Amino acid sequence: MSHTTFYVTTPIYYVNGDPHIGHAYTTTAADAITRFHRLAGRSAWFLTGTDEHGQKVLEAARARGLEPQAHCDAMVERWKAMMAELGIGYDRFMRTTDPDHVAVVQGALSRLHAAGELYRDTYTGWYSTAAERFWTEKDLVDGKCPDTGQPVVEITETNWFFRMSAYRDRLIAHIEEHPGFIRPASRRNEILGFLRKELGDLCISRPKERMSWGIELPFDPDFVTYVWFDALLNYLTGAGYRADGNFDDSGRWPADFQLLGKDILTTHAVYWSTMLMALGVELPRALFAHGWWTADGVKMSKSLGNTIDTLLLKEAFGLDATRYFLLREIAFGADGSFSYEAFLARYNSDLANDFGNLAHRGLSMTAKWLGGEVPPIGELTDLEQRLRRDATVAVREVDLHLGELAFQKALEAVNALVRAGNKYIDDTQPWALAKAGDDARLATVMRHVLEVCNVAAALLAFVMPERCATLLERLGQDDVGAAFRDVRERARIDELPLDALREGTPIEVGEPLFPRFREMPGVIAERLEPPAPPRPAADPTISWEDFAKVALRAGTVVSAEPHPAADRLLVLRVDIGEPRARQIVAGIADRFRPEALVGRQVVVVANLAPAELRGVRSEGMLLAAGGKAVVDLVTVDAEPGEIIR
Ligand code: MSP
Repeated sequence: MSHTTFYVTTPIYYVNGDPHIGHAYTTTAADAITRFHRLAGRSAWFLTGTDEHGQKVLEAARARGLEPQAHCDAMVERWKAMMAELGIGYDRFMRTTDPDHVAVVQGALSRLHAAGELYRDTYTGWYSTAAERFWTEKDLVDGKCPDTGQPVVEITETNWFFRMSAYRDRLIAHIEEHPGFIRPASRRNEILGFLRKELGDLCISRPKERMSWGIELPFDPDFVTYVWFDALLNYLTGAGYRADGNFDDSGRWPADFQLLGKDILTTHAVYWSTMLMALGVELPRALFAHGWWTADGVKMSKSLGNTIDTLLLKEAFGLDATRYFLLREIAFGADGSFSYEAFLARYNSDLANDFGNLAHRGLSMTAKWLGGEVPPIGELTDLEQRLRRDATVAVREVDLHLGELAFQKALEAVNALVRAGNKYIDDTQPWALAKAGDDARLATVMRHVLEVCNVAAALLAFVMPERCATLLERLGQDDVGAAFRDVRERARIDELPLDALREGTPIEVGEPLFPRFREMPGVIAERLEPPAPPRPAADPTISWEDFAKVALRAGTVVSAEPHPAADRLLVLRVDIGEPRARQIVAGIADRFRPEALVGRQVVVVANLAPAELRGVRSEGMLLAAGGKAVVDLVTVDAEPGEIIR
């Protein structure tokens, strides 16, 4: 079977609570990349869904006094509604309770059992319901689950195990030989580090007497399958893999991109990969671990109750703006702190002032002075030549960056073109040309403005499907896909993406696409706290020489743990591009849980004299916002060691 269809997956979401911005994020990213490939004329397939078995869901059902199946049936509707609201065009919404998936899981289990990959054993471990997994004593942090910070219970039981350890060397070799397999690259080392330490076997069952909400082991009816073993296989069910171990002829597998939050990279990179190896199935082409949306540096999650409701954002700012913000605001792979103020600022700058404004200026001036039709192109000056190059660059950059799922960079590239379009209007001053009666030049200028709108709308349609389709329609382009392919083709072959519109086509001005918000929309304003007190009076000045003495460097937190003797302090190890990571003691334990800091990109004062803080040596300091109480860490998107001025 050959791989013919671009296949992308999201994690399947637990139905123990309502969806929030974190889930919307992964799903929107997957939807956007799928749309991009579809617009480009490729066959693409997008899988998402819900993870319905296991203890967490069972407990959520019990809390509502429902049977688990009835609970799941009801919750799934909420997840589907969220996705419909966000314009998510999945091809299949997988439910792990779907009969074809149950058959795939049982088929896989039977084959692994027959091949001697599974064995029965009795052991003792610490079980975390929140993370749905066992930990060893040394894994625990303060006696609690290291992933969730929730309590664990000691359990001794007989279970079925998968000989995962046997695949360790093969997996290490695979990761080393396929640099694109785990992305972004920084995460690859994390997984390699994990694998090089030690890899045990994986417990893949739960005794029914303790937890019966799962798929029964076909060879031992006293057990159900571990929820992760069941859940991960959904990616194969969605790819047309059958219970007998063969694929249908849809050509989806191996997946091109499997998107996931960094919290579940280990389960994917290690459990999933070794399961596939044992099943004799090719590994996916890329696992992409994106970062977390945080609230004040803490991951948003159902259990912490600090989540943002994406549907509220949609209500306030509209569907397209919500999708745009999610993918534009933070690099896919990095963490980002959510704030409504940042949303408003981003909306007003990129969408209202830049893109919406360009479209409105282009359309209304053409209607006013040129009879409301796409005007002809006359002689070109350097200004037009430059704009043409800008357009070609934008199209190519979008392509390039999306190959790496660098949504932020792709959207920045389009925004750069949009800004160039607005600057072009300012430079050419069409109002002066109209006044002077220079119709030929005016036509050339307005045509270029409309053409930039066309390129931008075609390029942004994968993120903002509604408004971009509207803008294209106003330009006389009814088929978004055709407009998109045309622009790309022109950028590839002709270098003429600004000759795409048809002269004489009537245009339509319409309402502004992204009206400016002068203040926070009411539905959000009423949820926000009163404004912070004014800042203290100006600080005394220092000379440049004084400032230049401070060596600021970009760094990445590689580990973080509580200080052994002080509750307020954390002991971090921070890579600042030197052979050895710096140990830094920081008074930020009130604000951040240690696990939330690993991978964060920070700014380090690198030449601060080392000091002992409550018995632990500290070799530098992190920059943070906030006076006495730390509000947030200063973050920078740069390689460790980069100089900051
Ligand atoms: N059911 C498992 C996944 C099984 S996949 C075979 C699970 N579900 S979950 O409901 O907890 O959702 C996890 C996913 O939601 C994360 O991997 C991430 O994609 C997304 N997010 C949840 N909270 C998030 C943030 N605060 N920020 C960004 N994404 C996060 O784990």
